[in-house]
Amino acid sequence: MKNLVIFGATGSIGNSTIEFIKSCPNKFKIIGLSARSRIKELKQISETFKVPYIVVEKEEDAKILSSSLNYSAQVLWGDEGLKDLASLDSVDIAVIGISGIKALIPTYYALKAGKRVAIANKECIIAVGSFLKEIAKYHKAELLPVDSEHSAFFQLLQKEKKEHIEKLIITASGGPFYKTPIKEFSKITPEMAVSHPTWKMGKKISVDSATLMNKGFEVLEAMVLFDFPLDKIEVVIHPQSLVHGIIKLIDGCYLMHLSSPDMKIAIAYALNYPERVKLPIKSLDLTTTKYLIFEKPNFKKFSCLKLAYKVGKLGGVYPLILEAADEVVVDAFLNRKITFDKISYFLEKTLNEFKIPSINLKDINETLEFHKKVCEFTENLIKKSCL
Ligand SMILES: NC(=O)c1ccc[n+]([C@@H]2O[C@H](COP(=O)([O-])OP(=O)(O)OC[C@H]3O[C@@H](n4cnc5c(N)ncnc54)[C@H](OP(=O)(O)O)[C@@H]3O)[C@@H](O)[C@H]2O)c1
Repeated sequence: MKNLVIFGATGSIGNSTIEFIKSCPNKFKIIGLSARSRIKELKQISETFKVPYIVVEKEEDAKILSSSLNYSAQVLWGDEGLKDLASLDSVDIAVIGISGIKALIPTYYALKAGKRVAIANKECIIAVGSFLKEIAKYHKAELLPVDSEHSAFFQLLQKEKKEHIEKLIITASGGPFYKTPIKEFSKITPEMAVSHPTWKMGKKISVDSATLMNKGFEVLEAMVLFDFPLDKIEVVIHPQSLVHGIIKLIDGCYLMHLSSPDMKIAIAYALNYPERVKLPIKSLDLTTTKYLIFEKPNFKKFSCLKLAYKVGKLGGVYPLILEAADEVVVDAFLNRKITFDKISYFLEKTLNEFKIPSINLKDINETLEFHKKVCEFTENLIKKSCL
């Protein structure tokens, strides 16, 4: 039996992890959960599994939750709570399903404590992925991808020599507006943007999928996770979302990873690796898949994707700046402060105008502080434009 903690238990990744755990109660035990604002849902999950450790963001929520639980649990709060839960001796695996840079705290401390970290969060890999890999290596921890495309590559790369690989090809559904004319982008509402054609995900990643920023982030994520140069990572539009990752080999062969679009597959793989288990999902019937479509992405229309390649080329702190700015810009769009067509404008403006202070990306406090500064800078840009 492996002891598991789920960071971001009330979110989409958290829910899929819990669904998977329910299907194999004798293999994994949930001993810790974290969430930020959905305290009612967190209470319900905690009571279902009688989870002994819980972390929330605010002290007052910790008090309310602690006194309302129908069993006794240790309820912690804030960054210290995340750190303590990630470092607990009894934890074997940490699932990182928190969105945004906040995930860096449990990721870093779980790796430092030598755990297996099943990471869905892409923000902290983009920001300081190389450093996290170093920490994992030093502490004999494991950093395993849960993002479906990266899980696909992780699986495909197991048996291939790196020198045999010509390209990593990341598939993108194209999001809900792939066919929408660019002149209509200003009319796209948050409600339209969060309804993804294939995946049911949190609001932030859904908007990122609609702008293709998410695909750009996945390019940067793949570059770090698999140590691949940017010019060997390509994106293709594949609206069916059945092929999640493709590797092109030097002899002209392509290997593809194909499955139903269900995050439980990637989650289960990271939790069970190197084993595989039967899953409670409807598996894909290949005979109903008559053909597979792959198209070139439209970089002009989806300039966020272009920005990702730009920061990937620049390296250093630039991917972190893009990621931080995106957290603010997407939030502003969701709160109707800016229109959909302005998302890439504010990202580019931040990249061009933010004055970079010196920073040590191997210090997580400095990284978080730097991230905050970029966020404040982008917030100001948006505020000024609204005056
Ligand atoms: N969803 C997917 O299919 C998918 C696929 C690949 C990668 N990912 C990545 O996985 C991560 C999670 O995505 P998601 O779709 O599951 O997001 P989500 O549904 O919005 O869930 C986010 C979770 O993180 C918690 N959280 C958010 N901000 C927090 C903070 N500042 N401090 C502590 N907890 C915080 C939320 O708590 P409350 O809800 O209680 O506020 C919630 O439990 C993202 O990085 C995303 O890019 C997701």
